[in-house]
Amino acid sequence: MGKTSRISGFHKLTVEERLKIVSEFAGLSDDEAALLKKRGHLDIQTADRMIENVIGTFELPLGIAANMIINGKEYLIPMAVEESSVVAGVTNAARIARSGGGFFTSNTGPLMIAQIQAVDVKDPFGAKLRLYEKKDEILRIANEQDPILVKIGGGAKNIEVRVIETAFGQMVIVHLIVDTRDAMGANAVNTMAETLAPYVGEWTGGRVYLRILSNLADRRLVRARVRVKKEEFKGAEDVLEGMIYAWAFADADPYRAATHNKGIMNGISAMVIATGNDFRAIEAGAHAYASRTGRYRSLTHWEKDQNGDLIGTIEVPMAVGLVGGATKMHPISGVVIKILGVKTATELGEIIGAVGLCQNLAALRALAAEGIQKGHMSLHAKNIAVSAGATGDLIDVIAKRMVEEGTIRMDRAQELLKELKKG
Ligand code: MEV
Repeated sequence: MGKTSRISGFHKLTVEERLKIVSEFAGLSDDEAALLKKRGHLDIQTADRMIENVIGTFELPLGIAANMIINGKEYLIPMAVEESSVVAGVTNAARIARSGGGFFTSNTGPLMIAQIQAVDVKDPFGAKLRLYEKKDEILRIANEQDPILVKIGGGAKNIEVRVIETAFGQMVIVHLIVDTRDAMGANAVNTMAETLAPYVGEWTGGRVYLRILSNLADRRLVRARVRVKKEEFKGAEDVLEGMIYAWAFADADPYRAATHNKGIMNGISAMVIATGNDFRAIEAGAHAYASRTGRYRSLTHWEKDQNGDLIGTIEVPMAVGLVGGATKMHPISGVVIKILGVKTATELGEIIGAVGLCQNLAALRALAAEGIQKGHMSLHAKNIAVSAGATGDLIDVIAKRMVEEGTIRMDRAQELLKELKKG
């Protein structure tokens, strides 16, 4: 019989047993299986509780971006990311932002939205108003689900009811707006929405299907602002101009905006991952927010002030927490939070927003000047040298030669490796 991925009770097996099955299935060598058995800082019992069917753990480099000042306070920024130049970019851009005082931030508070979907409602507009009349009762039922959250000042605060047009006619959509304090809040708001669903069914006279949070967390925005003094561009004034043109390009053209915003997410996601938060939620929220005008646009804005200094701003949803989930279970996330020295989820969110803006500053500056490849290449060359089999000092020697020659390719790295090993 050929191999099959149908493995009954896979989840009930131990990590070892699962790994044995996977090794046989994929023909892993003993060395490859041993790699999966290597343990890092995340112990396997914790990993096995975090997700299903665990066979090992997966590591990323954790780097520190230096030079960051936010609201007058010095921060070291931990970033977990696989791409070279990301940490260097924030470090360099944070340095040039220092003379303008660094970054300044604000936020809208930690308000999440839960959605409840009612279909086949005979009188959707009447139902909408019936729901508004029940607002106090809705908030009371929701808040009964999480007395601790209410005690610390959070909980369901408001509702909004929308009638939307869909491929299957009008639907009544209830938004429950919940202050989730220091939690990302998915569990809290989903529990509230699930409890409310039968009531919404009864009060609308329709059928309720979905009851789940929205990742378009546009009530949980962070904002960051930076001023880069024109003196930072002395002798390269056209770079400052080029950066503003680069922003205008991104804001006008979704093809460019996708890359521009990807660069912003380099900084945001690296911090979200390092702090054990849900980076898919943040990515989804950011891109949906970038499309809120009906066209996918830049998350940042760049302009010049009356002095000719460069002013950058960002506004982005930031549903991150400090309690619950991987933020508490992953041992490194706790250390990362200590390095950041943050006390609240909103402070964390603001820092992440500022880092996104800082990353964008780095990218636009490089793009408007020498391009990104120059900075990228020496690290990239080292990666290629390692992939070609270089070890120890040979990595730097081969990388340097390839950068000097302007040929950073695997075949050239292999050639050089052969040559140098012979010599
Ligand atoms: C690469 O990861 C990110 C950039 O492409 C962003 C940008 O183009 O603005 C450099």
